[in-house]
Order: sequence, then C-alpha cells, then structure tokens
Amino acid sequence: MVSNIKIAPSILSADFAKLGQEVAAITEAGADYIHVDVMDGHFVPNITIGPDVVKAIRPHSKKVFDVHLMIAPVDPYIEAFAEAGADIITIHAEATPNFHRTLQFIRSLGKKAGISLNPGTPVSALENIMDLVDLILIMSVNPGFGGQKFIPTSLNKIRAVRKMIEKEGRPIDLQVDGGINMITAKSAIDAGADVLVAGTATFVGGPDNYSKNIKALRGD
Ligand code: DX5
Ligand code: ZN
Repeated sequence: MVSNIKIAPSILSADFAKLGQEVAAITEAGADYIHVDVMDGHFVPNITIGPDVVKAIRPHSKKVFDVHLMIAPVDPYIEAFAEAGADIITIHAEATPNFHRTLQFIRSLGKKAGISLNPGTPVSALENIMDLVDLILIMSVNPGFGGQKFIPTSLNKIRAVRKMIEKEGRPIDLQVDGGINMITAKSAIDAGADVLVAGTATFVGGPDNYSKNIKALRGD
C-alpha cells in the first residue's frame, strides 16, 4: 500500500453547462488532478470534449490537468491538447500500434506521458515502455461512460504494475479509473494504486458535497 493518495475527479460527471465553475469547485474541494476524459465515438462509443474545451477551462484551476485520450487515431491531436494546457497526456495502448513513439512525442513536448490499458489488455503491454511513462492508468471499466461497475480483476493488474514500478525504481503514478467509490477506492489503494479517478463519486450530491466526497475517497 502506498501513502499520499491523489484524487483525480473526472469532469465527465460535472455539470457541462458550468464547467469552469465545476473545475474551480473541485479544485477548492481538494482535488489533486483534474481528470479530463476525451472520447471520439470511434475508439469508445461516446463523444465528449476536445482541445478547445480544455483551453477554456484551463484558467479555472492551477492543478495538474490530467488528460485521458480515448481516441484513435491519437497522434494528430497530441499537440493540440498540449497547447490547450494539458500537463499529463495519457494515451491508450490499444489506440495505436506505435504507442512507444507516441509516448516519446508527448515527452518531447515537455509534457508528462501516460499509458492506459483497457480491462482486456494484459500488463505485459507495458514491458518495453516503462522508461517512457510518468503515469500508468489501469482501466477498471471498459472506457466510454461514467457510472459503470468496477471490474474486480483490475486489482490483480494493479498489484502486478506496482511491482513493475518498484523494479523501475523511479516515481510513476499508478492510476485507476472506473467505478471508484469508497469501497473500491480502498481495494485499489491496498493493491497499490496511488491516483484514483472518480467521476460519479466526486460529483454526487452537488458542490456542497465535493469536499466531503473527495475526503471519503482518500480514506480521511
Ligand atoms: C470512463 C472514463 C472515466 C469515468 C469514470 O471511460 O475514463 O474517467 O468518467 O467515471 P466513474 O467514476 O463514474 O466510473
Ligand atoms: Zn478517464
């Protein structure tokens, strides 16, 4: 188990009609990262937001913008998200056969590079890119929608990746995304995750509850 847990609220569950205020509210409530879910209706069966929206909300928080790209192709859009103000850019291993090159490209732009694995993708996909990543995201639902149920076998993957990170011997965020609530948060932390993405569980009950919700996820 790792101490110093970070909470990354997914703004997918925010009120899109007042996104700037929502980003400011979760920042105030104690969010560590602002998790931005980008979906293209092709790699995943949903369409969300693009670089212009990231640019528009960027001034509303000084926190790390953690941009999760669920898009294919991904390479043509990396620069736009970097320029829009992303701090971490996470791509999916399944989205491009050349993810090694894409990770190098993200770093060449001065951004942190993340790699994400869908529930059906084995952790062996990470073996040859451990030196290129600053964040590893284990999806605990199939990406596309908020509010899905946590897939328990994700915990085995988190345990395995925690060992790989220890072997690598430098700080790499181990993030889990999908179906995180107070109970699954604890299981994920026990398995070795140190960044928890939470959409539904952060935004439930509206702005008056954000601080309480984030504290509960952290286990405070
Ligand atoms: C799923 C997204 C998640 C999602 C999490 O495709 O990547 O970030 O918004 O939502 P909850 O926390 O509601 O499962
Ligand atoms: Zn996400």
